[in-house]
Amino acid sequence: MSRFPENFLWGGATSAAQIEGGRCEDGKGLSHLDYVYYRGPKIPCNFMMSGDYARAKAEEDSLNFPNRRGIDFYHRYKEDIALLAEMGFKSFRMSISWTRLFPTGLEDKPDPKGVEFYHNVFRELHKYGIEPLVTMIHYELPIVFVEKYEGWVSPEVVPYCVKYFKFLIDEYKDEVTYWLTFNEINMVTAVPWLGGGILLDKYCTIPRGFRPFAKMPEDMERAWNYTSHQALHHQFIASAMIVRYAHDTAPQCKIGNMFNLHHLYPETPSPADAYRAHEETEYNMFFCDVMAKGYYPKWMLSYYKKHNIEIKWYDNYEEILANGKVDFISLSYYLSSIVTADPDRQERIGNFIRMLKNPYLETSDFGWQIDPTALRISLNELRDRFNLPIYIVENGLGAFEKPDEEGKIHDDYRISYLRSHIKAIGEAIEDGVDVIGYTPWGCIDLVSCSLVSMSKRYGFIYVDADDEGNGTYDRSRKDSFYWYKKVIASNGEDLD
Ligand code: BG6
Repeated sequence: MSRFPENFLWGGATSAAQIEGGRCEDGKGLSHLDYVYYRGPKIPCNFMMSGDYARAKAEEDSLNFPNRRGIDFYHRYKEDIALLAEMGFKSFRMSISWTRLFPTGLEDKPDPKGVEFYHNVFRELHKYGIEPLVTMIHYELPIVFVEKYEGWVSPEVVPYCVKYFKFLIDEYKDEVTYWLTFNEINMVTAVPWLGGGILLDKYCTIPRGFRPFAKMPEDMERAWNYTSHQALHHQFIASAMIVRYAHDTAPQCKIGNMFNLHHLYPETPSPADAYRAHEETEYNMFFCDVMAKGYYPKWMLSYYKKHNIEIKWYDNYEEILANGKVDFISLSYYLSSIVTADPDRQERIGNFIRMLKNPYLETSDFGWQIDPTALRISLNELRDRFNLPIYIVENGLGAFEKPDEEGKIHDDYRISYLRSHIKAIGEAIEDGVDVIGYTPWGCIDLVSCSLVSMSKRYGFIYVDADDEGNGTYDRSRKDSFYWYKKVIASNGEDLD
């Protein structure tokens, strides 16, 4: 008998910006991710400042914008969904592109072609019995909010966003049960441009040659803290408003939060290291606290005081948050890290996360530390803290891959990563955690978020496209495709 519940939602995850392409087709507008340009196979691109943005606009014809191409899901969704169905998917995580429905974000009425596109996708999924899991915003902000406002720092974005969210619920509530409001809501504080469309140098001077995650001068740190937490506050508000709206108008819908789970160990048994790990863990959980408990924890208010972060609170925010608590917790999980109390030895690499090398763990091609046990521990902690169902909506291994002479990809490293994580999830379920689904990231190869490249691949399905957009875009099955099919067919029992 399987440890996984009978209706467990096995599937895979994607986002609109990373798969759709069809950049300006059928009236689609541009979002801030459409201006992120490729800089090399291992260079993070999502720390945009005003200069980068100006360059993206001035050199629009010559720079390389992979998000504008995606993997051409816009035209190939039928073929892609048929492949997912062949693996036995029960669930497919995708996002809706705000600018495909409301090209500038300011319109009163959506574009009918965009509306129809998502109906078509949902129809196709349901044809195979696949449940859509829809992220309302996966790192996409119509560009007008960067140009005319200050990204999510501006409260003016809230009503436009809520209008878009309400439209989604009204239009698609009979086709979509599971919704997530903001992808990895905590990323706005880690990468302000990516999560909030914030150009930080509008608020402070950025030292020449500043590297992401390097130590910041004081005024920059202040600007970073203020803008990102103010933007986060507005996202919490928009999210709570739509949860409340859905509860009132579409009670069949279930709305989750979505955060990047960051499991931390102290580097040594010293109380100082243990306290740092505790602090960082509380910080990571804070993003769920607000959305699941409906209020800012007291310690966070002290944190704001300590760091001189003066949030301009949205009118009636306490009531709005209290009335908009999510129905389930969802998370992405890729790696764990260790922390030290020594400020000079803290580093940040990997998925935008501060971390030190853990000698007990292996790493991926990209230095991400592989740790399924941390997932099991965190799932137990989340159960104790929130007592809500948990949907694991991202997990996986990014790797460089090229087909062999026979055109095959033997991705045993991916199978091994996923096997160990599925095993850990099964164990957490035995521990009493209510995990309802698992959608590994990038089930079909897609554009990497941090590197904006095709060469970092996560898929069960290979897409023949390179970082410059060359290739046939044809799809083919990797070894993991057949393996995951067996896993799903045995409801997580056959992991060999
Ligand atoms: C998550 C994001 O942070 O990690 C995805 O929600 C992203 O959009 C994924 O693609 C993997 O990160 P990357 O940088 O390897 O694509």
